[in-house]
Amino acid sequence: MSSGSESNRKGVRDALFQTENKRGQEVASEHLRALVSLLLPWFDRHKRDLPWRRDKTPYTTWISEIMLQQTRVEAVKGYYLRFVRALPTAADLAACPEDRLMKLWEGLGYYSRVRNLQKAARIVVERYGGQLPADYAALRALPGIGDYTAGAIASIAFGLPVPAVDGNVLRVIARYADDDGNIDDPAVRKRVAASLRAVYPAERCGDLTESLMELGATVCLPNGAPLCADCPLRSRCLAFRNGTVSDLPVRKEKPPRRIERHTVLWITDGQGVALIRRAARGVLGGQWAPPTTEGALSEAEVRKLLCEADCRILTLTPQPNYIHVFTHIEWHNTVYLAVVQAIPSQWRRVTADELQREVALPAAFPMPHALKNGASGALDALPKSKNV
Ligand code: ADE
Repeated sequence: MSSGSESNRKGVRDALFQTENKRGQEVASEHLRALVSLLLPWFDRHKRDLPWRRDKTPYTTWISEIMLQQTRVEAVKGYYLRFVRALPTAADLAACPEDRLMKLWEGLGYYSRVRNLQKAARIVVERYGGQLPADYAALRALPGIGDYTAGAIASIAFGLPVPAVDGNVLRVIARYADDDGNIDDPAVRKRVAASLRAVYPAERCGDLTESLMELGATVCLPNGAPLCADCPLRSRCLAFRNGTVSDLPVRKEKPPRRIERHTVLWITDGQGVALIRRAARGVLGGQWAPPTTEGALSEAEVRKLLCEADCRILTLTPQPNYIHVFTHIEWHNTVYLAVVQAIPSQWRRVTADELQREVALPAAFPMPHALKNGASGALDALPKSKNV
Protein backbone atom coordinates (compact mmCIF):
# COMPACT_ATOMS: atom_id res chain seq x y z
CA MET A 1 0.00 0.00 0.00
CA SER A 2 1.51 3.33 -0.88
CA SER A 3 -0.34 5.53 1.57
CA GLY A 4 -3.06 5.51 4.20
CA SER A 5 -2.52 3.37 7.29
CA GLU A 6 -4.24 0.02 7.68
CA SER A 7 -6.46 1.39 10.42
CA ASN A 8 -7.49 4.33 8.24
CA ARG A 9 -8.48 2.00 5.44
CA LYS A 10 -10.41 -0.20 7.78
CA GLY A 11 -12.18 2.86 9.12
CA VAL A 12 -13.15 3.93 5.60
CA ARG A 13 -14.36 0.45 4.76
CA ASP A 14 -16.43 0.21 7.91
CA ALA A 15 -17.89 3.60 7.20
CA LEU A 16 -18.77 2.50 3.68
CA PHE A 17 -20.25 -0.83 4.42
CA GLN A 18 -21.38 -0.93 8.01
CA THR A 19 -25.08 -1.47 7.98
CA GLU A 20 -25.88 -1.67 11.70
CA ASN A 21 -24.56 1.78 12.41
CA LYS A 22 -26.90 4.51 11.25
CA ARG A 23 -24.21 7.09 10.74
CA GLY A 24 -21.98 4.61 8.89
CA GLN A 25 -24.85 3.63 6.64
CA GLU A 26 -25.45 7.24 5.69
CA VAL A 27 -21.80 7.69 4.75
CA ALA A 28 -21.89 4.46 2.74
CA SER A 29 -24.99 5.51 0.91
CA GLU A 30 -23.65 8.98 0.22
CA HIS A 31 -20.43 7.66 -1.29
CA LEU A 32 -22.19 4.98 -3.32
CA ARG A 33 -24.86 7.42 -4.44
CA ALA A 34 -22.06 9.61 -5.78
CA LEU A 35 -20.86 6.56 -7.73
CA VAL A 36 -24.31 6.14 -9.24
CA SER A 37 -24.57 9.78 -10.28
CA LEU A 38 -21.10 9.74 -11.86
CA LEU A 39 -21.44 6.37 -13.52
CA LEU A 40 -24.83 6.56 -15.25
CA PRO A 41 -24.06 9.64 -17.42
CA TRP A 42 -20.74 8.03 -18.35
CA PHE A 43 -22.56 4.83 -19.34
CA ASP A 44 -24.99 6.81 -21.51
CA ARG A 45 -22.05 8.18 -23.50
CA HIS A 46 -19.65 5.25 -23.51
CA LYS A 47 -21.62 2.00 -23.47
CA ARG A 48 -20.63 -0.44 -26.15
CA ASP A 49 -23.10 -1.43 -28.82
CA LEU A 50 -23.48 -5.12 -27.98
CA PRO A 51 -25.98 -7.49 -29.62
CA TRP A 52 -27.75 -8.31 -26.33
CA ARG A 53 -28.28 -4.63 -25.64
CA ARG A 54 -30.56 -4.36 -28.68
CA ASP A 55 -34.13 -5.72 -28.54
CA LYS A 56 -33.66 -6.97 -25.02
CA THR A 57 -36.05 -9.53 -23.60
CA PRO A 58 -35.71 -11.46 -20.34
CA TYR A 59 -34.88 -14.53 -22.42
CA THR A 60 -32.11 -12.83 -24.44
CA THR A 61 -30.68 -11.27 -21.27
CA TRP A 62 -30.60 -14.69 -19.68
CA ILE A 63 -28.86 -16.32 -22.65
CA SER A 64 -26.25 -13.57 -22.91
CA GLU A 65 -25.49 -13.57 -19.19
CA ILE A 66 -24.97 -17.33 -19.16
CA MET A 67 -22.69 -17.11 -22.22
CA LEU A 68 -20.75 -14.22 -20.68
CA GLN A 69 -19.81 -16.30 -17.64
CA GLN A 70 -16.24 -17.43 -18.31
CA THR A 71 -16.23 -16.19 -21.92
CA ARG A 72 -15.09 -12.83 -23.30
CA VAL A 73 -17.57 -10.37 -24.78
CA GLU A 74 -15.92 -10.46 -28.22
CA ALA A 75 -16.09 -14.25 -28.33
CA VAL A 76 -19.71 -14.33 -27.17
CA LYS A 77 -21.15 -11.94 -29.79
CA GLY A 78 -21.34 -14.41 -32.70
CA TYR A 79 -22.49 -17.32 -30.56
CA TYR A 80 -25.19 -15.21 -29.00
CA LEU A 81 -26.64 -14.07 -32.34
CA ARG A 82 -26.62 -17.57 -33.77
CA PHE A 83 -28.20 -19.05 -30.64
CA VAL A 84 -31.09 -16.61 -30.29
CA ARG A 85 -31.78 -16.81 -34.02
CA ALA A 86 -31.93 -20.61 -33.86
CA LEU A 87 -33.81 -20.72 -30.54
CA PRO A 88 -35.65 -17.42 -30.12
CA THR A 89 -37.80 -18.44 -27.12
CA ALA A 90 -37.60 -20.52 -23.96
CA ALA A 91 -40.01 -22.98 -25.59
CA ASP A 92 -37.64 -23.45 -28.56
CA LEU A 93 -34.75 -24.01 -26.17
CA ALA A 94 -36.77 -26.47 -24.09
CA ALA A 95 -37.61 -28.54 -27.20
CA CYS A 96 -34.18 -28.47 -28.87
CA PRO A 97 -32.61 -31.92 -29.51
CA GLU A 98 -29.43 -32.43 -27.49
CA ASP A 99 -26.95 -32.76 -30.38
CA ARG A 100 -28.27 -29.59 -32.00
CA LEU A 101 -28.01 -27.72 -28.71
CA MET A 102 -24.43 -28.87 -28.21
CA LYS A 103 -23.59 -27.82 -31.76
CA LEU A 104 -24.94 -24.32 -31.06
CA TRP A 105 -22.76 -24.17 -27.96
CA GLU A 106 -19.67 -25.75 -29.55
CA GLY A 107 -16.59 -23.66 -28.81
CA LEU A 108 -18.06 -21.85 -25.80
CA GLY A 109 -17.04 -24.63 -23.41
CA TYR A 110 -18.38 -25.34 -19.94
CA TYR A 111 -21.17 -27.42 -21.44
CA SER A 112 -22.96 -27.79 -18.11
CA ARG A 113 -24.04 -24.19 -18.65
CA VAL A 114 -26.10 -25.09 -21.70
CA ARG A 115 -27.46 -28.27 -20.14
CA ASN A 116 -28.69 -26.21 -17.20
CA LEU A 117 -30.09 -23.61 -19.61
CA GLN A 118 -32.25 -26.29 -21.19
CA LYS A 119 -33.31 -27.75 -17.83
CA ALA A 120 -34.31 -24.27 -16.71
CA ALA A 121 -36.11 -23.55 -20.00
CA ARG A 122 -38.22 -26.66 -19.50
CA ILE A 123 -39.20 -25.45 -16.03
CA VAL A 124 -39.96 -21.98 -17.43
CA VAL A 125 -42.26 -23.57 -20.00
CA GLU A 126 -44.00 -25.88 -17.54
CA ARG A 127 -44.25 -23.55 -14.58
CA TYR A 128 -44.33 -20.05 -16.04
CA GLY A 129 -45.94 -20.48 -19.46
CA GLY A 130 -42.65 -19.90 -21.28
CA GLN A 131 -41.86 -16.48 -19.74
CA LEU A 132 -39.09 -16.00 -17.19
CA PRO A 133 -40.53 -14.94 -13.83
CA ALA A 134 -40.03 -11.28 -12.84
CA ASP A 135 -38.90 -12.26 -9.40
CA TYR A 136 -35.38 -12.61 -8.00
CA ALA A 137 -36.09 -15.65 -5.79
CA ALA A 138 -37.93 -17.49 -8.57
CA LEU A 139 -35.10 -16.80 -11.01
CA ARG A 140 -32.50 -17.84 -8.44
CA ALA A 141 -34.28 -21.18 -8.01
CA LEU A 142 -33.81 -22.14 -11.69
CA PRO A 143 -30.94 -24.53 -12.64
CA GLY A 144 -27.73 -22.69 -13.53
CA ILE A 145 -28.92 -19.35 -12.17
CA GLY A 146 -26.92 -18.14 -9.18
CA ASP A 147 -26.95 -14.85 -7.29
CA TYR A 148 -25.13 -13.00 -10.06
CA THR A 149 -27.31 -14.17 -12.97
CA ALA A 150 -30.54 -13.75 -11.00
CA GLY A 151 -29.48 -10.19 -10.17
CA ALA A 152 -28.50 -9.45 -13.76
CA ILE A 153 -31.81 -10.71 -15.21
CA ALA A 154 -33.88 -9.10 -12.44
CA SER A 155 -32.29 -5.69 -12.90
CA ILE A 156 -31.50 -5.61 -16.64
CA ALA A 157 -34.62 -7.34 -17.94
CA PHE A 158 -37.19 -6.49 -15.26
CA GLY A 159 -35.88 -3.21 -13.81
CA LEU A 160 -35.81 -4.60 -10.26
CA PRO A 161 -33.43 -3.07 -7.70
CA VAL A 162 -31.13 -6.09 -7.37
CA PRO A 163 -27.39 -5.86 -8.01
CA ALA A 164 -25.41 -8.44 -9.97
CA VAL A 165 -22.06 -8.79 -8.28
CA ASP A 166 -19.40 -10.48 -10.40
CA GLY A 167 -15.62 -10.12 -10.46
CA ASN A 168 -15.79 -6.90 -12.48
CA VAL A 169 -18.21 -5.26 -10.06
CA LEU A 170 -16.26 -6.43 -7.01
CA ARG A 171 -13.09 -4.92 -8.46
CA VAL A 172 -14.77 -1.57 -9.14
CA ILE A 173 -16.28 -1.37 -5.67
CA ALA A 174 -13.14 -2.62 -3.87
CA ARG A 175 -11.17 0.18 -5.50
CA TYR A 176 -13.83 2.85 -5.20
CA ALA A 177 -14.10 2.09 -1.46
CA ASP A 178 -10.41 1.23 -1.02
CA ASP A 179 -11.68 -1.99 0.51
CA ASP A 180 -9.08 -4.66 1.14
CA GLY A 181 -11.64 -7.33 2.01
CA ASN A 182 -10.99 -10.61 0.21
CA ILE A 183 -13.41 -10.65 -2.73
CA ASP A 184 -13.40 -14.46 -2.83
CA ASP A 185 -14.98 -14.41 0.63
CA PRO A 186 -18.77 -14.83 0.30
CA ALA A 187 -19.26 -12.46 3.25
CA VAL A 188 -17.49 -9.70 1.30
CA ARG A 189 -19.65 -10.34 -1.77
CA LYS A 190 -22.77 -10.22 0.40
CA ARG A 191 -21.65 -6.98 1.99
CA VAL A 192 -20.99 -5.39 -1.43
CA ALA A 193 -24.35 -6.61 -2.77
CA ALA A 194 -26.22 -5.26 0.27
CA SER A 195 -24.52 -1.85 0.00
CA LEU A 196 -25.25 -1.59 -3.69
CA ARG A 197 -28.84 -2.73 -3.33
CA ALA A 198 -29.46 0.24 -1.04
CA VAL A 199 -28.57 2.75 -3.75
CA TYR A 200 -30.24 1.19 -6.82
CA PRO A 201 -32.14 4.00 -8.55
CA ALA A 202 -35.75 2.96 -9.22
CA GLU A 203 -35.76 4.21 -12.82
CA ARG A 204 -32.41 2.83 -13.94
CA CYS A 205 -31.77 -0.49 -12.22
CA GLY A 206 -30.63 -2.29 -15.35
CA ASP A 207 -28.38 0.56 -16.40
CA LEU A 208 -26.64 0.61 -13.02
CA THR A 209 -25.95 -3.13 -13.27
CA GLU A 210 -24.65 -2.80 -16.82
CA SER A 211 -22.65 0.36 -16.13
CA LEU A 212 -20.78 -1.29 -13.25
CA MET A 213 -19.98 -4.25 -15.51
CA GLU A 214 -19.01 -1.91 -18.31
CA LEU A 215 -16.64 0.13 -16.17
CA GLY A 216 -15.01 -3.05 -14.88
CA ALA A 217 -14.66 -4.46 -18.39
CA THR A 218 -13.37 -1.35 -20.17
CA VAL A 219 -11.77 1.06 -17.64
CA CYS A 220 -11.26 -0.37 -14.16
CA LEU A 221 -9.23 -3.23 -15.59
CA PRO A 222 -7.53 -5.98 -13.59
CA ASN A 223 -3.86 -6.94 -13.43
CA GLY A 224 -2.31 -3.54 -12.94
CA ALA A 225 -3.78 -2.07 -16.11
CA PRO A 226 -6.61 0.23 -14.95
CA LEU A 227 -7.25 3.30 -17.11
CA CYS A 228 -7.76 5.70 -14.21
CA ALA A 229 -7.31 8.76 -16.46
CA ASP A 230 -10.52 7.77 -18.28
CA CYS A 231 -12.51 6.86 -15.19
CA PRO A 232 -15.66 8.79 -14.35
CA LEU A 233 -15.27 7.79 -10.67
CA ARG A 234 -11.75 9.14 -10.28
CA SER A 235 -12.75 12.19 -8.24
CA ARG A 236 -14.36 10.00 -5.57
CA CYS A 237 -12.30 6.79 -5.88
CA LEU A 238 -10.58 6.16 -2.55
CA ALA A 239 -8.02 3.73 -3.94
CA PHE A 240 -7.04 6.33 -6.54
CA ARG A 241 -6.74 8.91 -3.77
CA ASN A 242 -4.74 6.56 -1.53
CA GLY A 243 -2.55 5.15 -4.29
CA THR A 244 -3.75 1.60 -3.71
CA VAL A 245 -5.46 0.87 -7.05
CA SER A 246 -2.95 -1.74 -8.14
CA ASP A 247 -3.14 -3.56 -4.77
CA LEU A 248 -6.86 -4.13 -5.17
CA PRO A 249 -8.92 -6.20 -5.19
CA VAL A 250 -7.48 -8.63 -2.67
CA ARG A 251 -8.06 -12.26 -3.67
CA LYS A 252 -7.48 -15.61 -2.07
CA GLU A 253 -4.48 -17.41 -3.44
CA LYS A 254 -5.80 -20.17 -5.69
CA PRO A 255 -4.54 -23.73 -5.20
CA PRO A 256 -2.49 -24.91 -8.20
CA ARG A 257 -4.44 -26.78 -10.90
CA ARG A 258 -4.32 -30.56 -10.82
CA ILE A 259 -2.35 -31.96 -13.75
CA GLU A 260 -3.79 -34.99 -15.53
CA ARG A 261 -2.11 -36.89 -18.36
CA HIS A 262 -4.17 -38.51 -21.06
CA THR A 263 -3.67 -40.07 -24.45
CA VAL A 264 -6.10 -39.00 -27.16
CA LEU A 265 -6.70 -41.34 -30.09
CA TRP A 266 -7.97 -39.94 -33.36
CA ILE A 267 -9.01 -43.02 -35.25
CA THR A 268 -10.15 -42.79 -38.84
CA ASP A 269 -10.93 -45.17 -41.67
CA GLY A 270 -10.28 -42.37 -44.14
CA GLN A 271 -13.93 -41.38 -44.36
CA GLY A 272 -15.13 -41.24 -40.78
CA VAL A 273 -13.73 -40.62 -37.30
CA ALA A 274 -14.33 -42.71 -34.18
CA LEU A 275 -16.03 -40.86 -31.34
CA ILE A 276 -17.35 -41.96 -27.96
CA ARG A 277 -19.81 -40.31 -25.65
CA ARG A 278 -17.95 -39.39 -22.48
CA ALA A 279 -19.31 -40.62 -19.14
CA ALA A 280 -22.15 -38.44 -17.92
CA ARG A 281 -20.29 -37.50 -14.75
CA GLY A 282 -16.91 -35.82 -14.79
CA VAL A 283 -15.10 -33.42 -17.10
CA LEU A 284 -16.99 -32.81 -20.38
CA GLY A 285 -19.61 -35.29 -19.20
CA GLY A 286 -21.94 -36.51 -21.95
CA GLN A 287 -19.95 -34.86 -24.76
CA TRP A 288 -18.86 -36.59 -27.95
CA ALA A 289 -15.06 -36.94 -28.02
CA PRO A 290 -12.31 -39.14 -29.48
CA PRO A 291 -11.43 -42.18 -27.33
CA THR A 292 -8.94 -41.31 -24.57
CA THR A 293 -6.98 -43.28 -22.02
CA GLU A 294 -5.28 -42.38 -18.77
CA GLY A 295 -1.57 -41.62 -18.92
CA ALA A 296 0.88 -40.69 -21.68
CA LEU A 297 1.06 -43.86 -23.78
CA SER A 298 3.94 -44.83 -26.01
CA GLU A 299 3.38 -45.75 -29.64
CA ALA A 300 3.79 -49.43 -28.78
CA GLU A 301 1.21 -49.19 -26.02
CA VAL A 302 -1.27 -47.49 -28.36
CA ARG A 303 -0.68 -50.15 -30.99
CA LYS A 304 -1.44 -52.88 -28.43
CA LEU A 305 -4.55 -51.08 -27.24
CA LEU A 306 -5.90 -50.64 -30.75
CA CYS A 307 -5.23 -54.27 -31.59
CA GLU A 308 -7.16 -55.31 -28.47
CA ALA A 309 -10.00 -53.09 -29.69
CA ASP A 310 -10.09 -55.08 -32.97
CA CYS A 311 -8.56 -52.34 -35.10
CA ARG A 312 -6.42 -53.18 -38.11
CA ILE A 313 -3.92 -50.34 -38.06
CA LEU A 314 -2.75 -49.01 -41.42
CA THR A 315 -0.75 -46.10 -40.04
CA LEU A 316 -0.14 -44.71 -36.58
CA THR A 317 1.32 -41.23 -36.30
CA PRO A 318 2.17 -39.28 -33.14
CA GLN A 319 0.70 -35.78 -33.24
CA PRO A 320 1.87 -32.67 -31.37
CA ASN A 321 1.13 -32.93 -27.65
CA TYR A 322 -0.83 -30.10 -26.06
CA ILE A 323 -2.07 -28.72 -22.77
CA HIS A 324 -5.71 -27.81 -22.25
CA VAL A 325 -6.51 -25.67 -19.21
CA PHE A 326 -9.78 -25.95 -17.29
CA THR A 327 -10.59 -23.90 -14.21
CA HIS A 328 -9.21 -26.44 -11.74
CA ILE A 329 -7.48 -29.02 -13.94
CA GLU A 330 -4.81 -29.05 -16.63
CA TRP A 331 -4.88 -31.79 -19.20
CA HIS A 332 -1.47 -32.70 -20.63
CA ASN A 333 -2.45 -34.70 -23.66
CA THR A 334 -0.44 -37.06 -25.83
CA VAL A 335 -2.05 -37.49 -29.24
CA TYR A 336 -1.98 -40.15 -31.97
CA LEU A 337 -3.68 -40.37 -35.31
CA ALA A 338 -4.48 -43.90 -36.37
CA VAL A 339 -5.72 -44.82 -39.82
CA VAL A 340 -7.47 -48.15 -39.51
CA GLN A 341 -9.11 -50.43 -41.99
CA ALA A 342 -12.52 -50.18 -40.33
CA ILE A 343 -13.86 -48.41 -37.26
CA PRO A 344 -15.12 -51.06 -34.80
CA SER A 345 -18.77 -50.83 -33.83
CA GLN A 346 -18.16 -49.89 -30.18
CA TRP A 347 -17.38 -46.39 -31.43
CA ARG A 348 -19.61 -43.98 -33.28
CA ARG A 349 -18.31 -43.40 -36.80
CA VAL A 350 -18.83 -39.75 -37.65
CA THR A 351 -18.27 -38.31 -41.10
CA ALA A 352 -16.77 -34.90 -41.86
CA ASP A 353 -20.18 -33.70 -42.93
CA GLU A 354 -21.78 -34.81 -39.66
CA LEU A 355 -18.98 -33.14 -37.73
CA GLN A 356 -19.62 -29.92 -39.55
CA ARG A 357 -23.39 -29.90 -39.22
CA GLU A 358 -24.43 -31.99 -36.22
CA VAL A 359 -21.80 -33.20 -33.82
CA ALA A 360 -20.09 -30.82 -31.40
CA LEU A 361 -16.49 -31.45 -30.39
CA PRO A 362 -15.21 -29.77 -27.23
CA ALA A 363 -12.28 -27.37 -27.63
CA ALA A 364 -10.31 -29.66 -25.31
CA PHE A 365 -10.01 -32.01 -28.30
CA PRO A 366 -8.59 -30.02 -31.19
CA MET A 367 -8.58 -32.12 -34.31
CA PRO A 368 -5.17 -32.91 -35.84
CA HIS A 369 -4.47 -30.90 -38.99
CA ALA A 370 -4.38 -34.08 -41.03
CA LEU A 371 -8.05 -34.60 -40.17
CA LYS A 372 -9.18 -30.99 -40.18
CA ASN A 373 -10.41 -30.84 -43.74
CA GLY A 374 -12.46 -33.96 -43.36
CA ALA A 375 -11.44 -37.47 -42.54
CA SER A 376 -11.08 -38.27 -46.23
CA GLY A 377 -7.94 -36.11 -46.34
CA ALA A 378 -6.26 -38.10 -43.60
CA LEU A 379 -4.81 -40.91 -45.66
CA ASP A 380 -3.14 -38.58 -48.13
CA ALA A 381 -1.88 -36.27 -45.45
CA LEU A 382 -0.09 -38.95 -43.46
CA PRO A 383 3.64 -39.57 -43.78
CA LYS A 384 4.14 -42.75 -45.78
CA SER A 385 7.07 -43.95 -43.62
CA LYS A 386 4.79 -44.77 -40.70
CA ASN A 387 2.98 -47.56 -42.53
CA VAL A 388 2.75 -50.71 -40.47
N1 ADE B 1 -20.43 -9.17 -18.74
C1 ADE B 1 -21.41 -9.80 -18.08
N2 ADE B 1 -22.61 -9.32 -18.44
C2 ADE B 1 -22.39 -8.35 -19.34
C3 ADE B 1 -23.22 -7.49 -20.09
N3 ADE B 1 -24.54 -7.56 -19.97
N4 ADE B 1 -22.64 -6.63 -20.93
C4 ADE B 1 -21.31 -6.61 -21.04
N5 ADE B 1 -20.47 -7.38 -20.38
C5 ADE B 1 -21.00 -8.25 -19.53
